[in-house]
Amino acid sequence: MGKRALITGVTGQDGSYLTEFLHAKGYEVHGIIRRASLFNTERIDHLYRDPHLAGVKLRLHYGDLTDGTALRRVLEAVDPDEVYNLGAQSHVRVSFDIPEYTADVVAVGTLRLLDALRDHVTQSGRPVRYYQAGSSEMFGAAPPPQNERTVFYPRSPYGASKVAAHWFAVNYREAYGLFVCNGILFNHESPRRGETFVTRKITRAVGRISLGLQDKLYLGNLDAKRDWGFAGDYVETMWLMLQEEHPDDYVIATGEAHSVREFVERAFAEAGLDWRRHVEIDSSYFRPTEVDSLCGDASKAQRVLGWQPRVGFAELVRMMLKHDLDLARRERTLNGAGFEVPVGGAALAAGSGT
Ligand code: NAP
Ligand code: GDD
Repeated sequence: MGKRALITGVTGQDGSYLTEFLHAKGYEVHGIIRRASLFNTERIDHLYRDPHLAGVKLRLHYGDLTDGTALRRVLEAVDPDEVYNLGAQSHVRVSFDIPEYTADVVAVGTLRLLDALRDHVTQSGRPVRYYQAGSSEMFGAAPPPQNERTVFYPRSPYGASKVAAHWFAVNYREAYGLFVCNGILFNHESPRRGETFVTRKITRAVGRISLGLQDKLYLGNLDAKRDWGFAGDYVETMWLMLQEEHPDDYVIATGEAHSVREFVERAFAEAGLDWRRHVEIDSSYFRPTEVDSLCGDASKAQRVLGWQPRVGFAELVRMMLKHDLDLARRERTLNGAGFEVPVGGAALAAGSGT
């Protein structure tokens, strides 16, 4: 019998890669999805099969991190070996617009899930291993390089909520002996990255600009530095942490930082374009408090988990751009055939800018 995993945030970037990774390991994956008025399962549709068929390896359950009753019910129904808590309002800029909701999902949502897990483990008598999706945003203003011993100094409601979630997880490990690991992951990107995060916003725009579908790209702070890795590499570490003998916390990063400006330059250069002709600064994309520089020291993960990132910065930019050039070509072909392709403009324009 393969193991069963339960994933919150299964429809997100990481949830989709983790599901593929766990399937390859023989797991049956159960995911919690939110009810939406339109389909929100695009990233996992290629993995989904009709549940009436035999041998189905992905099952979805309605639930929400703001709904403790549903979390408890799903935990009991699935009775998992491993739980991966990836669900979050994960956009830092948006967390300044909706701080209370962000804290409810990210901080209290984690507490709800841990508390449901604690009761489930007591009642079932079965050990369950739990992964908590922590973030380099928790380091915030702490100078790089950041590692497991760096003191947290969050700079946004999102970052502060992740710090609370981190300490809830540590407390449940120490108080109730639960097998709980915190992964402190630095930024990780992919062609599946949401289009309001800066890397994907850039590669999506470069794809469209190079095919004449748009002319300008509006960005905020180009000086911020991030340690960008590939999401497909990073989900492996979530699983590796849960296979260790003892639960612990790990920083996951490439150890290499680049500015947003460098990302812009490289993406435009890959497409043979001069970024200065297309990029404009819009101050609404600036954050009330910025995280200036993140660069992780993942030597503990390398030593204990034997993990190394495979995809470097240049390859990451190339991979994302290739995907978004293909998307733009498809859009141009459809436009040429008289179909108008929606590009999510209303969502991009919401709030004070993302
Ligand atoms: P993402 O693409 O934004 O996905 C977030 C997921 O959470 C989606 O499936 C979303 O569902 C779900 N979600 C949102 N609100 C929820 C709620 N109230 N209840 C249940 N689920 C909810 O994020 P990601 O990049 O995959 O990141 C995964 C996790 O790692 C997040 O916790 C994020 O904060 C953390 N993290 C990410 C990075 C990074 O660089 N990617 C780095 C460090 C930590 P919908 O699809 O319905 O919106
Ligand atoms: N989103 C966005 N949009 N960011 C911009 C823009 C813009 O137009 N212009 C400049 N930036 C800058 C931001 O100010 C920030 O310094 C940097 O680009 C990266 O922004 P995001 O891509 O939105 O990511 P993030 O670093 O704030 O947060 C991501 O990484 C965290 C890990 O450090 C998210 O995935 C979080 O969920 C994750 O925890």
